[in-house]
Parts: sequence; C-alpha cells; structure tokens
Amino acid sequence: MPNYRVETPQGSYPAVVERGILARTADWLPAKGGKVFVVSTEDVWRHKGAELQRALGGVAHELLFLPGGEEHKRLQPVEELAEHMVRLGGDRTSVVVAFGGGIVNDMAGFLAAIFMRGVPVLQVPTTLLAQVDASIGGKTGVNLTTGKNLVGSFHQPCAVLIDPAVLDSLPDREYHAGLYEILKAGIIRIPALFTFLAESREEVLRREPEAVDRIIADSVRMKVEVVSADEREGDLRRILNFGHTFGHALEAETCYTRFLHGEAVAWGMRAAIHLGEMAGYCSAEECLEMLDLIAAYGPIPPLDGIYSDKLAARLVHDKKTVQGKVHFVLPVRIGEVTVVSDVDPATVREAIRCALA
Ligand SMILES: NC(=O)c1ccc[n+]([C@@H]2O[C@H](COP(=O)([O-])OP(=O)(O)OC[C@H]3O[C@@H](n4cnc5c(N)ncnc54)[C@H](O)[C@@H]3O)[C@@H](O)[C@H]2O)c1
Ligand SMILES: [Zn+2]
Repeated sequence: MPNYRVETPQGSYPAVVERGILARTADWLPAKGGKVFVVSTEDVWRHKGAELQRALGGVAHELLFLPGGEEHKRLQPVEELAEHMVRLGGDRTSVVVAFGGGIVNDMAGFLAAIFMRGVPVLQVPTTLLAQVDASIGGKTGVNLTTGKNLVGSFHQPCAVLIDPAVLDSLPDREYHAGLYEILKAGIIRIPALFTFLAESREEVLRREPEAVDRIIADSVRMKVEVVSADEREGDLRRILNFGHTFGHALEAETCYTRFLHGEAVAWGMRAAIHLGEMAGYCSAEECLEMLDLIAAYGPIPPLDGIYSDKLAARLVHDKKTVQGKVHFVLPVRIGEVTVVSDVDPATVREAIRCALA
C-alpha cells in the first residue's frame, strides 16, 4: 500500500493510494472528531454514494450536496452549506469529508478552512484529476466573476484517501483529462513514468488496474514530494504549472466551457514544449518525443476559432504573473523543466502558433 507523507508547515498527513481503501474511510476520521459532514454532489453520490455510506457504517454523519460544475464553484454555496452545518449541530469539533472531483475537493476544503475558523477535512477524491492533483497540497477555494480560484486558503487535509477503483464510473473524457496531468508529471519530474506511459498506452487506455494504480501512485508521490519541499507557490512548486500558463489562458479565452482543465493543459504543454525548443532549452528530438506522447493520448478536442494572438495577450493576466513578468515552465529534457521569465514575446507568439497548428 503506497502511503506517502505530506510534510507542510501546517502539519503532516498521509496520502494513501490503495484499491478498495474507500471501504475503510471510517478508520481515517480524526480520533477525537465530532459530527461528520460528508460533502459531495448528487452526480457523484448517484455513482458512489452507496459505497461510502457502507464504509461509514456505524459513524453518524450528515450528507450535504454542492451543485457541481465550474460555474457553481462560488462563495454562495459554501456559505449555504456552512449555515446548514450550524443548523445540523456542527461546531468546532466537526469534520468534513470531501467526496468528489476537484470542484468538491476545493469547495468542501474551503468550507472546512473557514467553518468555525477551521475544522479538519478528509479528502476522498473521485476523479483522476483530483486523485493525482487537486486533493494533495491543501489548496482550497472558489471562483470570482473576475477569475478562477481567486478566493481561497491553504487548508491541509487530515488525510487523502485515493482509491483507483472509484474511477470505474468516470466518463472517458474525464479520465483522459486526468491522464494529461499524469503525462505532465512524467515530463516534469519522472522519466520512468514517461517511458511507462509510452510503452503501456493500451493498458492505460483500457484502464487495466495494474497500470492505472501505478501511474496514479507515481504522480501522487511526485506531487507529495514537491508540495512537501515547498508548500506555497515557491520555485519548486512552480514546476507543477507546466502547461498551465497557456492552459489557463485557453480556459479563460473559452469561458471555462469548452475544454476540461486537463485538455487545456494538454494544449498548454504543447505550447510550452514548442517554446522550450525555440528558446533553446530543449533538444528538438526530446521535444518531438513529448509531443508524440501527448498526441498518442489524444486527440485533444480541437481549437477551431481560437486565435494565438488573443491567447498571448491573455498570458499577462495569469494569476501566477508576478509584477507583470510572465513565468514559463519549459522543458529541459524528459523529466526536467526550468522556470524562466525573460522570454522574447515574439517567440512566445510563435510557439503558441506552432502549438495550435
Ligand atoms: N486544489 C488544487 O490544487 C487543484 C488542482 C487542480 C485542479 N483543481 C480544481 O479542480 C477542478 C476540476 O476538477 P475535476 O476535473 O475533478 O472536475 P469535477 O469535480 O467537476 O468532476 C468532473 C465530473 O466528473 C463527475 N464525477 C466525479 N467523480 C466521478 C466518478 N467516480 N464517477 C463518475 N462521475 C464522476 C463529476 O460529477 C463531474 O461531472 C477545477 O475547479 C480546478 O480548479 C484544484
Ligand atoms: Zn492542473
């Protein structure tokens, strides 16, 4: 049972990757915790609620639903659930179980961060993206009309329970979107994962348990290492933004409705790879290998009607932009990236054009 330990200034906690661990959720609740509030969406509950219900067995708990969907990832539903928790007898000893994809992860995590100035949250992610990315690291929050995740807090969970078996009901498009984040993990830090994804494409796409468990465990280990070394957005954690600078611009340009996050990141990785080659950081051969692997897990939904100049202009508005300087995470070789901020804007525009071509 891969059991990784996340070490942060706020405390340390386990991230456990194990097929079937959902059935033992109750064992991971804080020992002296009070009332348990399970936060999910009706969609996730329809697929997996009965399993979690069984797992909680004798543990008294209340079930609360969030609306689901990026357009509902806002403050208001969080406030409503907080009111609900108080009415149901929630207090400073209450515990939140976040059971769902990245949206539930972020919103229920934020609810736990601010309810009575902070109560524990147990993260039980149910999408591939949430399992390998969103549930680890303690970032929580909601969107504003002016942008994504602009209100939030760091609130580390008491544990993260990653059960690859819950993915069996995940739609194919969501599964693919998660795979692109796993590809990212391979490119930025794990050459062996990159090779495995290249050699075991069929098994991964058929969702064979052994392959799925391995790629999840590798990605989780990497995220745990990076987050532990650098909890906030410092230099090391920045490498996780590979493909995200362009990806976020693309998501914003399409009003977050056309691409899943992982799909936008896949386009973003293409742009970063082209830029890495053009700016002289990475060899043409290795760049081609990376582009080929992204293509092998495609097709990514097409980009018709999207203009490279508009995307380039949007980069400046990225949340990660520091004092007007856009930071790019660029490949050096498979398994290594570097963060640079002095790339010639004309080269950036050219790289975006190539990525979209
Ligand atoms: N906190 C972080 O560090 C971090 C990192 C990456 C992404 N995020 C956030 O994560 C969100 C995206 O998360 P997501 O991609 O998981 O989307 P999501 O939470 O919307 O889930 C995607 C869809 O899958 C459904 N679903 C979830 N689990 C299922 C299952 N087991 N079976 C069947 N259907 C299932 C959901 O109902 C939803 O329709 C974004 O809001 C993003 O900002 C946060
Ligand atoms: Zn991401």
